[in-house]
Amino acid sequence: MLEGSFTVVDIVLRAHDLVKVYGGRRGQSQVDALSDVSIALEKGKTLGIVGESGCGKSTLARLLVGLEAPSSGTIEINGHLVQANEHSARRALARKIQLVFQDPFSSLDPRMTVEKALAEVLKVHSLQTNDAVARIAELMAMVGLTARFASRYPHELSGGQAQRVAIARALAVEPQILVLDEPTSALDVSVRAEIINLLVRIQDELKLSYFFISHDLSMVRHISDDIAVMYLGRVVETGRYDQVFSTPLHPYTSALADAIPVPDPEHERSRQASGSDAVQVQVDQVTRGCPYAPRCALVEPACRETAPALTETSDGHFVSCHVALRVASRRPTDPTMSDAPGGDEP
Ligand SMILES: Nc1ncnc2c1ncn2[C@@H]1O[C@H](COP(=O)(O)OP(=O)(O)OP(=O)(O)O)[C@@H](O)[C@H]1O
Ligand SMILES: [Mg+2]
Repeated sequence: MLEGSFTVVDIVLRAHDLVKVYGGRRGQSQVDALSDVSIALEKGKTLGIVGESGCGKSTLARLLVGLEAPSSGTIEINGHLVQANEHSARRALARKIQLVFQDPFSSLDPRMTVEKALAEVLKVHSLQTNDAVARIAELMAMVGLTARFASRYPHELSGGQAQRVAIARALAVEPQILVLDEPTSALDVSVRAEIINLLVRIQDELKLSYFFISHDLSMVRHISDDIAVMYLGRVVETGRYDQVFSTPLHPYTSALADAIPVPDPEHERSRQASGSDAVQVQVDQVTRGCPYAPRCALVEPACRETAPALTETSDGHFVSCHVALRVASRRPTDPTMSDAPGGDEP
């Protein structure tokens, strides 16, 4: 969340005006994957990040964990600026913040047993304790895997079991923050809730802070304290989860809130296969004005001229939409307003 005018919160990670541009050299087309993204993660809480394919969620995840450097902008952890392009700083960052990927098998070496994979992490991060075997058993127990899994190779694991191993690997370095990039999207519907429950329990036990990235609002709902809604590389609305989804201000948030989740693995596979082409077309079309204008039912001439800034409308609730901001500014004097883009304003 972003701190509101009246909120005092304990922030563990703060990203300020992150920009990430891909391509643009030697005739390549340029992709503005992230534009001025500012977010803050509260200690011990979960910030859900939602938005459709190609809006920049994974790019943000890679910047947060230092896998890629931003084109501009800064990241602070515990108040310390992280220079992501310095090797030592990146290494220190890696200890504090860990990424869990959508496809657990992509992050596991097929030639390593579960035990070996965990031992490897302890070794790489110089975390070898006197009793590495006991530490590995502890990590496995933490993610709900019994000792018989220690000798298994990735191909002998189900998707859910492999994701548990990936989570155990992330926990091995004793991080403060996990960036969970669609950690349940590649799993069978039946095991998604199990992994969410596991993550909630671990967060509670270890007092971790999470970024939980998803295109699926129904997943974010169960785990998020705060939420940031992204559209074409920008945060268009953010605030407490309840605040944002009981009173969505941005028309895109309203559309997401109204969308019925489709718990269908076939749908999920076709979504992943289709990638971000649909959004990419729009990136190329939007040169100025609000990036949502081409799709917006409430579009006004001003929306095609200037991009709205992310602005606080009530304590900690921010939105970037000309129409929503006008409605919000009139709300105290005219509570009967009915043209709120959220549609279900009181
Ligand atoms: N390495 C790269 N080079 C060029 N363009 C990239 C690169 N990585 C991402 N992009 C582009 O940046 C934009 C954001 O991509 P990103 O993967 O962050 O989206 P996403 O929200 O994670 O999507 P999804 O829900 O499909 O995972 C897209 O237009 C994508 O094509
Ligand atoms: Mg992604």
